[in-house]
Amino acid sequence: MKRAVLFYSLTDNTREAAKEIGRLLNADVYAIDTIRPMPKSMGMQMMYGGMLATFGMCPKIKGVPQNISDYDEIILGTPIWASKQAPAINTVLKNREIRERVVAVFTFSGGGDNDKCQEILQKKLPNLNHMVALADRNNPVAFENQTRLKGFVEEVLNGERQKD
Ligand SMILES: Cc1cc2nc3c(=O)[nH]c(=O)nc-3n(C[C@H](O)[C@H](O)[C@H](O)COP(=O)(O)O)c2cc1C
Repeated sequence: MKRAVLFYSLTDNTREAAKEIGRLLNADVYAIDTIRPMPKSMGMQMMYGGMLATFGMCPKIKGVPQNISDYDEIILGTPIWASKQAPAINTVLKNREIRERVVAVFTFSGGGDNDKCQEILQKKLPNLNHMVALADRNNPVAFENQTRLKGFVEEVLNGERQKD
C-alpha cells in the first residue's frame, strides 16, 4: 500500500500533524503552498484568506508531486478557514486523480468549527472513509489531539486490513 499525505498549513499546526501521520503510516508527506505568498500580518491573513475561502477561490499552488497517481491512498490535511477548507485545497481537489484517492481527511480549527468543512469534503470525495477534527495548539482542547490522531491512524490502517 503506497500512501501520501498532502496538506496545506499556514501556521504549522497541520504541518506537524501531517509529519506525525506520515511517520505512523509510513507515507510520503507533501506540503502544498500557494504560489503567491500569504500576507505576513495576522489581520491581513484573516481578511485576505477569509475572502478567498468564503468565495471558494482556487489560488495557484505548488507542491503536488508529479507522480500522485502512483499512490493508492491519499490522506489530506487542511486548516479551517471561514468554516471551509483552505483555498489551496480547493485547487488540489480540482484534480480528479487526487479526489478519487483521498480516503482520509484531518482538519485543524481555531474554535472547533469543523463540521461544515467536513460536510463539504464528504460531498467532493467519493472514497472518503475517515475524518478527524483537531484543535489549534492555542485551543484548550488541543491536549486531545494526540489521542485523536492515533485513533485516526488506526482507522486508516484498519481500512487497509479490511481490504486484505
Ligand atoms: C484566514 C483564516 C480563517 C480562519 N477561519 C477559521 C474559522 O472559520 N473557524 C475556525 O475554527 N478557525 C479558523 N481559523 C483558525 C485556523 O483554522 C486554525 O488556527 C488552524 O489551527 C490553523 O492551522 P495551520 O497552523 O496548519 O495553518 C482561521 C485562520 C485563518 C488564517
